[in-house]
Amino acid sequence: MDHKKKTSTLFLRKDIKTDLYKKTGLEKSLTAFSLITMGVGAIVGAGIFITPGIIAAKYAGPGAFLSFVVAAIVCSLAALCYSEFSSTIPLAGSAYTYIYAVFGEFIAWILGWALVSEYLFSVSAVAASWSSYFQNILAGFHWYLPEAFRAAYGTAGMPHAIFDLPAFIIIMLLSFLLIGGVRESAQINAIMVILKIIVIILFIVVGVFYIRPENYHPFLPFGMKGVVSGAAVAFYAYIGFDAVSTAAEEVKNPQKNVPLGIIGSLLIATVLYIALSLVLVGMVKYTHLNVADPVAYALHFIHQNWVSGIVSLGAVIGMTTVLMVFLYGGTRLVFAISRDGLLPRVFSRLSTKTHVPVTNTWLFGILGSFFACVIPIDKITELVNIGTLFAFAMVSIGIVFLRRNPEFKELDSAFKVPFYPVLPIVSFILCVILMFELKSFTWIAFFIWLVIGLIFYFSYGYRHSVVRNRYHSENK
Ligand code: ALA
Repeated sequence: MDHKKKTSTLFLRKDIKTDLYKKTGLEKSLTAFSLITMGVGAIVGAGIFITPGIIAAKYAGPGAFLSFVVAAIVCSLAALCYSEFSSTIPLAGSAYTYIYAVFGEFIAWILGWALVSEYLFSVSAVAASWSSYFQNILAGFHWYLPEAFRAAYGTAGMPHAIFDLPAFIIIMLLSFLLIGGVRESAQINAIMVILKIIVIILFIVVGVFYIRPENYHPFLPFGMKGVVSGAAVAFYAYIGFDAVSTAAEEVKNPQKNVPLGIIGSLLIATVLYIALSLVLVGMVKYTHLNVADPVAYALHFIHQNWVSGIVSLGAVIGMTTVLMVFLYGGTRLVFAISRDGLLPRVFSRLSTKTHVPVTNTWLFGILGSFFACVIPIDKITELVNIGTLFAFAMVSIGIVFLRRNPEFKELDSAFKVPFYPVLPIVSFILCVILMFELKSFTWIAFFIWLVIGLIFYFSYGYRHSVVRNRYHSENK
């Protein structure tokens, strides 16, 4: 094949229209309400029970809530772009599928690979937070693990930690359930979401009585720079709304309900996060909040040990749903990429009994628990953020290309990003700005991740791509 032809087939696009009109067999039963519950289930978890403390202590001081506001603005702009995509192309696969249709295979692969890192490292990061809240409950009964097994090696304040055993066990357990075909049912998810919201409100209502106004001074000890750096971390707490778009094929009237689900869940999360971080820094001086379980810590600080126990239990339950969504979502993403031929077929092979992609579920579980056990939580959180910001940046700029492409004009889309083209471009720029707020370690690790991805693509995906092979057989 000559060089020019090789280059042009790198950007072959997936024909979405045939997929769009093909009956997938999935039942269209989800409503806007079920999507909002699903979104809150995926969004609210480790981020809110951990990051406000880190942001207050290390970046923004008592003004930490402003970092959540900035992150919410960036996420809502990206959410609007996601909404337009999912309303125009309501297919499973989310951003990976959108970008395959608009920018072609090579960019879709890079994006899909970045999304794999988002899902994989989210599993690790949420499991590490799950572990600290779980150990907090055990401590209530005076049960303690040996320090070597309490957290990953290198975790701040734990010089003897080597391996996070609870994180390992919870990921393995959930992988095992997923392999057995167990999926959280919509009802169980709704119950867990309500529990999560109740414990957050409980914290706010109890904590508000213990606010000491002097804790709000100085309000922004690190200035606006600290707020923006804090926003890059706060961003983590909002990740998950994109999972709503993965359900698009199962939604009634997806053109309207998917945007409602995405934006509604983001709005609820924003209100909860702002209220919680305002109360938290009022209860405890921000300099004391660089701990793994700041919400429980603040309740201990005011001697509300019972409330702390209840909130920790709610947090553990809440984080379990987030873990389940990311484990499930990640394995289905790998499934979709493998089905397109870009990863080995074994990752899209389904168990004949449970219809679950067993190999990639094990792989995800093993890698997720490995990273959770060996990388300290603050570093994994940043890794999640860089991959996700990268994906959001691509989706945002993708809207400009979607609108300019006459092929997509005739598709029926109920939701359009307002203030086009300013909004998607601003969204793209804000995502890139937040990426630059992340540490050099994160950039280096992400770069290595992308290089590994490129090696995979050129040694396997390029040759096995279903779209390319079809193109070659049609153009012989
Ligand atoms: N937004 C997810 C959480 O906070 C990652 O757990």
